[in-house]
Amino acid sequence: MGPPANSPSPPGSGDAAVASPKSAVGSGNGDELEASAVQNAIEADDTADDHVDDSASDAAYESDMNSTGSTSVSSSVRDYVFENNRRYHKFQEGRYLLPNDDAEQEREDMKHAMCVSLCSGKLHMCPLENPQKILDLGTGTGIWCIDMGDEYPGAEVIGLDLSPIQPSWVPPNVRFMIDDVETEWVDPPNSLDYVHGRHICMTIKNFPRLAAQAYTALKPGGWIELQELRFKIFCDDGSAPEGEGYGYTKFINLAMAGFRSFGFDPLVMENNKNMLIDAGFVNVEEKIWKVPIGAWPKDRTMKTIGIYNRSLIMDGLHSVGIKPITKGLGWSEQEVELLLVDVRKALMDASNHVYYTFHAVYGQKPGGS
Ligand SMILES: C[S@@+](CC[C@H](N)C(=O)[O-])C[C@H]1O[C@@H](n2cnc3c(N)ncnc32)[C@H](O)[C@@H]1O
Repeated sequence: MGPPANSPSPPGSGDAAVASPKSAVGSGNGDELEASAVQNAIEADDTADDHVDDSASDAAYESDMNSTGSTSVSSSVRDYVFENNRRYHKFQEGRYLLPNDDAEQEREDMKHAMCVSLCSGKLHMCPLENPQKILDLGTGTGIWCIDMGDEYPGAEVIGLDLSPIQPSWVPPNVRFMIDDVETEWVDPPNSLDYVHGRHICMTIKNFPRLAAQAYTALKPGGWIELQELRFKIFCDDGSAPEGEGYGYTKFINLAMAGFRSFGFDPLVMENNKNMLIDAGFVNVEEKIWKVPIGAWPKDRTMKTIGIYNRSLIMDGLHSVGIKPITKGLGWSEQEVELLLVDVRKALMDASNHVYYTFHAVYGQKPGGS
């Protein structure tokens, strides 16, 4: 396999130039985005209402779930625990801080649609050639595996997760396993073509170990790719209050403190590129997309993405925050609910031209043909 070759056409790039952020709201050092890695720019819409042309939204969020043939998911770990009026996984109980109930699954599927649309329909950024065996870490609802199974019918696609929430009927080349990705991998050395992990920054405690395990399990020439949202709020035009004056920044900082109290580093992905290089991977690349929050972008696709993003953030305020903030920081549920009133207000205010970023980092195991 050769060096990375594919570069996506950026949605919303229009005729506006790719700009670096003029101001970073609610963040400290290390906020600058590497301009050459940024794939899109976002121009603000003066009206900034939620109306999006139907044809644009349909096209942007179409997700091909049609598949031929089927096989059943093999899993024996079917128990759940309930707290905060939410349902959580039972296997390795307490390991993951977010619920796995229907509402959260719908939110995860919406996030999938948003991220794929942002990446111009691409499920991966690294240049895969005829992959035979693909492993997805923390697969969630398995929606990425199912789409990959359709895209690569010749590949075996395996999704790993603590929660048995994947659908029963999937493409014949896709299967799911209930396992903890932080334990010893069962994959033989040099057996995988592609290891993928998306939105797992708040699930893994030891990323260097994960990278080392992936390096061993990948074939020479195989690829690893990590895709993450980075929870730092930017505003390029000074339209949003600075720091925690912007309600959602206050929530992010609090939730991240909660995650840290459980031993997770929610911004660990800022080091993904260096981590892959340190693990021995070559041809390491990072691509960055701005992800608008709300209806403020002018471009139709970016506006749709912004509305979807705001919706999944709103739905996630409880699911993401409740356990880390109550169990981790000692707040009561009522205190959290009170905080969320202002956070929701800030998110619904389209005069705040805010965004965070989505990062895809990939690298190749040396060798291969
Ligand atoms: C935010 S979801 C991401 C879902 C999926 N990767 C996607 O992008 O659609 C994180 C998933 O990781 C799973 N998870 C958390 N810790 C895990 C672990 N140690 N081993 C396996 N899965 C884990 C959770 O159960 C959850 O389904």
